[in-house]
Amino acid sequence: MSSRKADIEQVKLGREIVSHWMGLMRAIHLYERGNSAILSLTSRILDAANELRGETPDLEIGIRQDAIFLRGERLREGNVGSAGYQGFVDLFRRCGISAIAISEEAGPEDVELVASMIAEITKGERTANELVGELGLRGISGIDVVATEGPEELPDDQDPAVVAKRVYLRSIGVVKSVFQTMRSDGRINARMVKRVVQQMIESVDNGCMLNLTSLKNYDEYTFNHSVNVSVLAIALGRAVGLSRDQQYVLGQAGMFHDIGKLCVAKELLNKPGRLTPDERTMVEHHPAEGLVTIASRLGVSDESIPVALAAFQHHVNMDGTGYPVAATRTPVGLLSRVVSVVDRYDAMTSSRIYRPEPIAPAKALAIMYHRHLDHYDPPLLSRFMNLMGAFPLGTTVRLTDGSVAIVLRGNDDPNLRHLPIVRIVLDPFGSPSEGEELDLATGLKEPDPLQIDEAVNPDDYGIELMDYLL
Ligand SMILES: [Fe+2]
Ligand SMILES: [Fe+2]
Repeated sequence: MSSRKADIEQVKLGREIVSHWMGLMRAIHLYERGNSAILSLTSRILDAANELRGETPDLEIGIRQDAIFLRGERLREGNVGSAGYQGFVDLFRRCGISAIAISEEAGPEDVELVASMIAEITKGERTANELVGELGLRGISGIDVVATEGPEELPDDQDPAVVAKRVYLRSIGVVKSVFQTMRSDGRINARMVKRVVQQMIESVDNGCMLNLTSLKNYDEYTFNHSVNVSVLAIALGRAVGLSRDQQYVLGQAGMFHDIGKLCVAKELLNKPGRLTPDERTMVEHHPAEGLVTIASRLGVSDESIPVALAAFQHHVNMDGTGYPVAATRTPVGLLSRVVSVVDRYDAMTSSRIYRPEPIAPAKALAIMYHRHLDHYDPPLLSRFMNLMGAFPLGTTVRLTDGSVAIVLRGNDDPNLRHLPIVRIVLDPFGSPSEGEELDLATGLKEPDPLQIDEAVNPDDYGIELMDYLL
C-alpha cells in the first residue's frame, strides 16, 4: 500500500474508534452488561485498534485542547461528524481523562469495563483517578487510562465507608500518575498528592480506611504498596498521638518512600530468583535515589525534608544495620521510623514474585517482634501490633466450624478484640455463603462458641477480596 493510502486507511480506522466509542457510551447507558450491541461495538473498537497498532505496543488516543490525537498525530474530524468528534473531546475533558492506550492484551470485557467506568464518572460516581486505581488494583493492564487533574472533591453526603473506598482507589490512581509523569517529564503534581493525603487522613480518622490495606496487588505492587504504607503510617502516627500536620507529612512520606525504585530496572524488581551482589546493590540504591528525587522535585521545605528523609531512611534498622550505608550513619527520624515499621509489615503481608505466598498478618507481626525487634522502634512496633490486633480488618480467616470469613470491624470492647465482626463468605462445606455478618462476641455465652481458628490466604480459597471490600 502506498504511504498516502496507508495514511488514509489509518485516519479512517481512527475515526471508527472514536465514533464506535461514542456509540458504546450510548449503548452502555441503554443496555445491560454483555448485551449484543455492546459486544459488537467493543469488538469493532478492538479490531480497529489492532489494525492500527501495527508493531507498537499500544495504541494511544488522547485529547489536547479541542482535538483528538491518535499516536500523537492530530486526527481531523472528517466523517466522524462534529457531534461525535466534539462529544469525544468533551467527554474525556469532563471526565478528567487525557488519553487511553489500548494494547493487544485488551479484551472486549476490558473495553466495556473502562467505558462503563467512564459512564460512572459522568454521573459523579467516581473520578478518573479512582478509575485508574481500580484498573490497577484489578490487574487490568490491557487498557491504560491517563488521568488529568479532574474535579476531585467528594460529595459531603456520602457514607464514610464509600468515601474511604473512593479515596483509596483515587490514591492508587494518583501514585500511578505521579510515578508515570516522573518517568516521562520529571514533574511531581504535589497539589494532587496533598489533596488526596488530606482525604486519606479524614478517612483514617473515621475508621473506614484501614481494612482496605489488606488489598494487595501482585502486578501493581509499588502503587498499591505505596498507598498501603501511606494509610498505615497515618493510622500509626494518629495512634501514637502525632499531630495532624505530622500525619500529613507521613501520608506523603508513605506515597513517596519507594519513588527511588523508578530508577531500578523493572526486571530486577520482579526477578524471581536470588539477586546477585551487583543487582542487590542496584536495588538497595533506591532510598538514596528517592532522597534526591524528592529533594529536587518537591524542593526543600519544612514539609518536604521529613518526606525525603523517610525515603532515605526507610530501610535503616534501629541497630544501625540496613541500607544504604550512608543512611545508617544518620540519626533516624521519628517519621522515618513509623514508615519503616509499616513498610516492612505491608511488604511481608503481600505476595511477591520471589515469595508468592504472603505471610499472614499476625505471623508477620510476630516475626517483626520476636526475630527482628532490634530493627524497629519498640514503642512504635508495640503500638502498631495493638492497632492491627491478631486479625487486622480485612483479614481472611477460617472459623472453628471450617467456614471462611473476612474480618469487617473490630470489637469496641478492648477485652474482646480477638472477637471481631466478620462476614462469612464460604460455609463449612466450602460453598459460597450469603455473606451474613456475624459478631463473634455474641456467641460467647454458648457452650461451643464460634471463634477464629487462623488467618488464611484468600487466594487459596478463590476469594476475590476486592469483591467484598470495595
Ligand atoms: Fe523500599
Ligand atoms: Fe516499600
